[in-house]
Amino acid sequence: MAAAAIPAATWKGISGISAPTTPGRRGRKAHWAAHRAEPPAGAGRPFQQGHGAMARCAASVTSLGPLARRGPACHAAGVMSENDPERLIRGRYGLRPEDPLPFAPPDSVPPALATLLDRRVTRRYAPDPVPEPLLRTVLAAAQSAPSKSDLQQYAIILIQDAGKIARIADWIGGMDWIKGAPVFLLFCGDVRRGRRVCALHGRAHANDNVDTFLNATADAALALGFAVMAAEAAGLGACPISYVRNHVERIAPLCALPPGVFPVAGLTLGVPAAPRNWLSPRLPQHLVVHSERYDDGGLEAALPAYDGARPPARPRYPEIHGPKPEGCGWSENAARQLSVPERFGLRPWLKWQGLSLD
Ligand SMILES: Cc1cc2nc3c(=O)[nH]c(=O)nc-3n(C[C@H](O)[C@H](O)[C@H](O)COP(=O)(O)O)c2cc1C
Repeated sequence: MAAAAIPAATWKGISGISAPTTPGRRGRKAHWAAHRAEPPAGAGRPFQQGHGAMARCAASVTSLGPLARRGPACHAAGVMSENDPERLIRGRYGLRPEDPLPFAPPDSVPPALATLLDRRVTRRYAPDPVPEPLLRTVLAAAQSAPSKSDLQQYAIILIQDAGKIARIADWIGGMDWIKGAPVFLLFCGDVRRGRRVCALHGRAHANDNVDTFLNATADAALALGFAVMAAEAAGLGACPISYVRNHVERIAPLCALPPGVFPVAGLTLGVPAAPRNWLSPRLPQHLVVHSERYDDGGLEAALPAYDGARPPARPRYPEIHGPKPEGCGWSENAARQLSVPERFGLRPWLKWQGLSLD
């Protein structure tokens, strides 16, 4: 049973960003224009030139179709091996050839691992459909993700109706490329199924609480991650979409989400159109991976180098924080984004949707 129309007083504001400082619809469009992955024109750094070869390889993949594997195509083209571990690690952390490696990678990595290390989002899709057998196999791979207690507390809404995908894109605004994706998957936490299973066996669901909400969210996120990895492995491209949560009051009825089922993120899926997106370098491993005990003492010292290793990005919320034509480093942009409340109406909506956050 789909949720009834939600009272306006409950959801009013979910789509907004913050009450006092909301930039409004135009501001949100500008924000999402800023969310595009590419650095500003001319902002390339020398260490990024290596990715040109990968882009050329990807272009050849597109012509080979989604089932083609990138590696052999690149070897055939005589381009330096994409599976070279040092190259992959340098790319992942935005390191220039002269920068020391943070650790000694193995001499070789299997192609599946190389695909993960080289993964990036796809925001441009070819008009080709995703063949049904491949789509169903990617979905099976999503279902291959680990799941808390094997409870599988998530649901995936498969949307292939171009009109529906366009409506979602229009609600989001500023992300028109979503309309080019032949497939849109909505990954949802699903507490309803557990409730129904309990009822079918005549038992009360005594764990219907914030822990179950978190488990369902983790299950959905893992399934999404596995779908992304499966897509990459199959030569498809994907991009998660958190912005579905700005429009839960519209997307939930569109997808007939019943009480206990809530969107975690969308995922566009399709055949990538060349050129590939840029490879977004990750934070240094020592800031994310803590040996034996948490220690973020090196954060301040490490951020300038990380900010400098990435091309300047379009500034977030220029209408609130002011313009910055030269672009922003990662940490400044993170602070700009995190200083503006987003989705302040989500919690009331989740409660209205029947989720227990206690
Ligand atoms: C949960 C989640 C939600 C995301 N939502 C959006 C989104 O709404 N729009 C978008 O363009 N990218 C979205 N992304 C993609 C991120 O922007 C992207 O992963 C990040 O910039 C790093 O780029 P990479 O994945 O190519 O390494 C999302 C990613 C995740 C994991």
